[in-house]
Amino acid sequence: MNLSVVILAAGRGKRMRSDVPKALHEALGRPMLRYVIDAVKTLKPAKIIVVTGSGAEAVRERIDDNRLSFVLQKTLLGTGNALSIAKKGLKKGTVLVLNGDCPLITAKTLKNLLTKHKRNNHLLSFLSFTDDTMPGYGRVFRDDRGRVTGIVEDKHATPTEKRRFNELNGGVYVMESGALAYLNRIKKNTSSGEYYLTDIVGIVSRAGKSLEAYNCPAEEIRGVNNREELYEVSDILKKRIISKWMKKGVTFIDPHTAIVHAPVSIGRDTVIYPNTYLEGETSIGKDCIIYPGARIYNGTIGNSVIIKDNTLIEESRVGHKASVGPCAHLRPLSVIGRCAKIGNFVEVKKSNIGDGSKASHLTYIGDADIGSNVNIGAGTITCNYDGKNKLRTVIESGVFIGSDSQLVAPVTIGKNAYIAAGATITKNVPPGALAISRVKQQTLEDWHKRKTGVKSKKKKGCKR
Ligand code: UD1
Ligand code: CA
Repeated sequence: MNLSVVILAAGRGKRMRSDVPKALHEALGRPMLRYVIDAVKTLKPAKIIVVTGSGAEAVRERIDDNRLSFVLQKTLLGTGNALSIAKKGLKKGTVLVLNGDCPLITAKTLKNLLTKHKRNNHLLSFLSFTDDTMPGYGRVFRDDRGRVTGIVEDKHATPTEKRRFNELNGGVYVMESGALAYLNRIKKNTSSGEYYLTDIVGIVSRAGKSLEAYNCPAEEIRGVNNREELYEVSDILKKRIISKWMKKGVTFIDPHTAIVHAPVSIGRDTVIYPNTYLEGETSIGKDCIIYPGARIYNGTIGNSVIIKDNTLIEESRVGHKASVGPCAHLRPLSVIGRCAKIGNFVEVKKSNIGDGSKASHLTYIGDADIGSNVNIGAGTITCNYDGKNKLRTVIESGVFIGSDSQLVAPVTIGKNAYIAAGATITKNVPPGALAISRVKQQTLEDWHKRKTGVKSKKKKGCKR
């Protein structure tokens, strides 16, 4: 089948009350137009044309993947006008036309529609649904014999017509070139000043050509015209995604408060606690535990990893059996080795942490390359910034860094070296050495007595 697709996405989305073009409003981290594109791609069409208008540049920049053609509808004269503009780029054959604001449409439903359209040799077919709770959709009119005679927008239908016709237009159409030829017969709607694509249905019907509306699940048609509908659609997407992962063996302690973006993957027997956000292209291995409050954006997490409470991971990798958190922050381009431990209030940025290495408490590791089995004491800081440049710190395998040390980059700590607590290291430390950099301790006896004249006593109990 020579199939082309046209996606209508020029609309301003007035009802969104936004500076962002409607097509780019996000449902679970992705522009809603992207969902529609992904669904049609599974049909392997020869061409996908996206009609842009409001914010055309921004839409193109965000959506373009080199497999789409874009056409510009300069003045938003309605869905009928939008398709006429795209028509010029279409070859002979079958065209699937759909609105860019229905992200819940599935490839299965689109395939069904195409199959029925072909099997019955229609000139035009489209999706319809019935749902009293969804307002504002076009109404499908049928004659006494049940034949489709036209579509009338809800706002133009009379109360009697509304009572009689409760089948609604899904905004997804399959047309043969012969149907497209009728586009120029659509007249401007006198009250709205728009050319309604829906009018083509009446025109084809009056021409005595074969057409039909096929029912599909109302959920898939749910369009997004305002923020409430954006939420409703996002909520349905969220449930679909989580249910998919549950079926694949992932436990969600509270699926209502976990957010999993569509491209995320999760291994079996992983347990996801409440209030967790798995975003972007994140992948989580098997047997992991993701505790409450974690947010992982474009993270690659190995198997049997524990991500403890309130941890933020951005564009970083965590090796098998490692543990991160609570309250840790992995900033972009960090790589945490197998069995490594990144503990409480530790921030890592653009650093490699070797297998089995540990930074358990209150540490900043930035622009560092750390070998395996290194112990980083509490309060250690890599001083990676001299006010102008970012400089690297190298800590070779087996090193022990005592607590409260500063490593002033660029600096290298050789294999198996020791840094005594409280050091400020400005020079390279050779392998196996101990570096101490602190003022020798002085102890002045009886300091309290000298200051106050009173001998210090042991305090009894505590004052309240
Ligand atoms: C449209 C249908 C309605 C159907 C509903 C299903 C028409 C006249 N009405 O109504 O029967 O029940 O979809 O969701 O088609 N667009 C353009 N250029 C324009 C106007 C709109 O590209 O000049 C695009 C929009 O970006 C949007 C799509 O077309 O993606 C539909 O437009 P919208 O204004 O949302 O139509 P609805 O009122 O929802
Ligand atoms: Ca709409």
